[in-house]
Amino acid sequence: MASPVSTVVFPAAGLGTRILPATKAFPKELLPLLDRPIIQYGVEEAVAAGITQVVLVTSPGNTMTSAHFAPSPELEAFLTEREKTEALEKIRAVTAGADVTTVHQTEPLGLGHAVLMARDRCGDAPFAVSLPDDVIDADPPALKQMVDVFTEMNGPVI
Ligand code: UTP
Repeated sequence: MASPVSTVVFPAAGLGTRILPATKAFPKELLPLLDRPIIQYGVEEAVAAGITQVVLVTSPGNTMTSAHFAPSPELEAFLTEREKTEALEKIRAVTAGADVTTVHQTEPLGLGHAVLMARDRCGDAPFAVSLPDDVIDADPPALKQMVDVFTEMNGPVI
């Protein structure tokens, strides 16, 4: 059965003041946890919940977060040529199953305002919000559990 929630919003336009100086020039959501940026765990969790549309909310100056999810044909060609199959699979997996787009929050006016920036991308359909700096290790994945509760209750789930 198709998921009743097709879109997830990742607000990622905050200043990350609590962990300065790590986030002075570097986006918090791209800090690595083992072998991948923390936001990638959230995107994988969303895909596992049947969600296919991913909306990143970033500040206009942050080009790195959307770049992480953009196709990288030159790197893929390089890895293909060098027969680095495992690495190739890893970078292809970054966007597998997800259509990732970005909207901007021009000023860090808070989490609610960041979510509002994705309004046009969500339309009137139910959508999920996932904080990209939280990683929840759960089986079934937390977002899948929430979509299941939404399916049953047909109301907001926190
Ligand atoms: P946080 O409060 O954890 O992030 O917001 P922050 O604002 O970057 O952190 P501090 O308090 O300054 O250290 C939760 C999520 O909401 C985003 C953040 O990027 C984070 O992913 N956020 C927060 C926005 O997108 N816009 C905002 O105006 C505020």
